Amino acid sequence: MSYYRILGFDTEPFSTSPDPEFFYLTRDHEAALTNVLIELRLRRGLSVILGDVGTGKTTLSRKLIRCLKERGDFIVNFVLDPCFENEHLFLSSLIRNFEVNVDQYCSSSDGLGKTTVLDLKEALEKFLYQKCIIENRTVTLIVDEAQKLTESTIEMLRVILNYETNENKLLQLVLLGQLELHSKIMKIPNFLDRISFKYVLNPLGVSETRDMINFRIKKAGYKSNAYLFLDDAIQLIHKVSKGYPRKITLWCHRALKALVMRRKWVVDEGLMRDLINEDVQEGWLTQIPH
Ligand SMILES: Nc1ncnc2c1ncn2[C@@H]1O[C@H](COP(=O)(O)OP(=O)(O)O)[C@@H](O)[C@H]1O
Ligand SMILES: [Mg+2]
Repeated sequence: MSYYRILGFDTEPFSTSPDPEFFYLTRDHEAALTNVLIELRLRRGLSVILGDVGTGKTTLSRKLIRCLKERGDFIVNFVLDPCFENEHLFLSSLIRNFEVNVDQYCSSSDGLGKTTVLDLKEALEKFLYQKCIIENRTVTLIVDEAQKLTESTIEMLRVILNYETNENKLLQLVLLGQLELHSKIMKIPNFLDRISFKYVLNPLGVSETRDMINFRIKKAGYKSNAYLFLDDAIQLIHKVSKGYPRKITLWCHRALKALVMRRKWVVDEGLMRDLINEDVQEGWLTQIPH
């Protein structure tokens, strides 16, 4: 029997996959999501979400995609790992993912599949015009791990963001990336002024850590009214994770597995201290938080 069933869960409460079902809307996550949705509805162009590893960017993007898919008027394309060697490969991937028929939109296409960067740009611009203006759909590109974009692909995105009518931008772009994306963006002239919404996701405080843990426990089907994590244990989880959701999730998972092995029913300070000590002894952690 799985460890989580022994404890009374229907499913694993602290999996590290970016499942939007298990996404607790903290103040930062809610502010980021709500504002990006507003920018997209207004077709304002570019939103940028920054955050350290494990602050919830990928899960937030999944949640955003889910919200957009519930609406019929959005066309959404999600790039998970934007490593493209050159502009042609980048544009080709956009064209493929948006299912743009290049022959239909590009005047100089020879129908043999040999296209230049200019052909691809032309096809993309006409496609965006058709979808956005004629069909009134909001075409959205969401790029995760955007710190991996090269300067030339950022420059290409800047050019695509210039496709606009008097009222709105033809492509809506959401970039999510680690903090170094900020310095990359600063290097591209005119990109910064294109940003209509920017937000930095910060680690959680103690009370949001507690709320996130309790939310995930409930989501996973825990029905008992008894506390599974005592407050002292939560304080320690917050200290050792520094409030980073990924680390919170990992520590909680480990604590629950330890509970089952020790045939106990509640994560208390003692159990957390034992786990932390194990890491200190093995050299994974340098200090025990006080
Ligand atoms: N607001 C949240 N509520 C619940 N779990 C979260 C939240 N934010 C992040 N997580 C969890 O933390 C882990 C890391 O999140 P992820 O989105 O991959 O972070 P990032 O992309 O910033 O590195 C995932 O397991 C995710 O489920
Ligand atoms: Mg991520």
